[in-house]
Amino acid sequence: MPNIILVGTQWGDEGKGKIIDMITQDVDYVVRFQGGNNAGHTVVVDGRQFILHLVPSGILHEDKICVIGNGVVVDPEVLIEEIKSLKKKGIKVDTNLLISDQAHIIFPYHKMMDKLREAQKGKGKIGTTGRGIGPCYTDKASRCGIRLADLFNDSVFHDKLKENIDEKNTIFCKVYGCDGFSFDEVYKQYKKYRQYLKKHICNCSQVLNDAIAIGKSILFEGAQGTFLDIDHGTYPFVTSSNSTAGGAVIGTGVGPKRIDKVIGVAKAYTTRVGEGPFPTEFSSVMMEKIRTKGKEFGATTGRPRRCGWFDAVLVKHSVRLNSIDEIVITKLDVLDECKKIKICVGYRIGKRLIRYFPSDIGSLWRCKPVYEELPGWYQDTTRITKYENLPQKALKYLNRISELIGAGISIVSVGSDRKQAFKV
Ligand code: IMP
Repeated sequence: MPNIILVGTQWGDEGKGKIIDMITQDVDYVVRFQGGNNAGHTVVVDGRQFILHLVPSGILHEDKICVIGNGVVVDPEVLIEEIKSLKKKGIKVDTNLLISDQAHIIFPYHKMMDKLREAQKGKGKIGTTGRGIGPCYTDKASRCGIRLADLFNDSVFHDKLKENIDEKNTIFCKVYGCDGFSFDEVYKQYKKYRQYLKKHICNCSQVLNDAIAIGKSILFEGAQGTFLDIDHGTYPFVTSSNSTAGGAVIGTGVGPKRIDKVIGVAKAYTTRVGEGPFPTEFSSVMMEKIRTKGKEFGATTGRPRRCGWFDAVLVKHSVRLNSIDEIVITKLDVLDECKKIKICVGYRIGKRLIRYFPSDIGSLWRCKPVYEELPGWYQDTTRITKYENLPQKALKYLNRISELIGAGISIVSVGSDRKQAFKV
């Protein structure tokens, strides 16, 4: 089995959790490489729903090794809770879960900073998940972040935490006029986490490269989506990590030559949580209809997702950015009751027609979608188990998407259960 990177091709929430779960059956390792508990991967197994925020979805398969890579930011409190809750549900979480010692730690001051910055931005806010993701990556880039390895070295941890809390408390007090954190309390709280995390800590790059050397295969599980990537997304309305395929090599220490395949996941329409431009966003009636049918509420924050038509310009750009070999289309069934279905094939900016995704936010805000319209199939697809049994009009829709984005479709999903998906 090859080493595969799987990424979201839109703004996240493409239904990656379920597809990762399907592919996991054929690999030995499942690895998270970026983001943190801003992610929420939903997997339904025999009617039981699991929402995973930090632990790779592969944990639901007992014989797989799951790794949290160095590119991930880890909130130990959330991670420990997630481990406990999985164990309660009878899922094995032992040395089958490994965490890079180079992963950065989220502290309470990161979460507070996230919320304060958002509040101060007012109308210009990003709409973050408030999990402290951005401020933690900020510290990583500023070279004052604290990594998991530091937690296990008493004097290093003490000094780094002291320096950080002193600096952050000054900012909380002088910039935001609020109280900060007690060093002693945070120090004591985080030292307690050691006993829970110790057996999971690893050298991620070594573990994965050693595994590849003996013929094991790896699935790199992307979180968020291409257009939330800090470099390639709709900046500044993005997350703070590289959610595109390149992030997998940086975020794990496995070189690019070891990657065999990149799979992109796209919803049959588009959604976005948080602020930022969204050219194909529905107006209110259609928004409500698709949001309700698609249960489009954030798995992490419960926020209603913004919904819109499939944007082929956006996904085509994604295919190029990620070197996508094949595409998975999810939630096709959500469009079952649409009489007409639109696909965005270009944008109009003033009088100009463009067929590429603009990189500057100013142009993006002004993009008006140019649509191609196809007839809907108006038929229930949730019980279909073979690609060729899909209604002709649904096949036409999928073929047109594939043609426009320049990638072949490999899997189609028509419901949340493991069984409601088939290969093309
Ligand atoms: P942050 O990652 O919490 O800093 O949030 C930055 C932006 O990314 C916000 O618009 C969030 O709604 C969005 N975001 C972060 N994680 C996810 C996700 O897993 N799915 C969808 N959107 C996300």
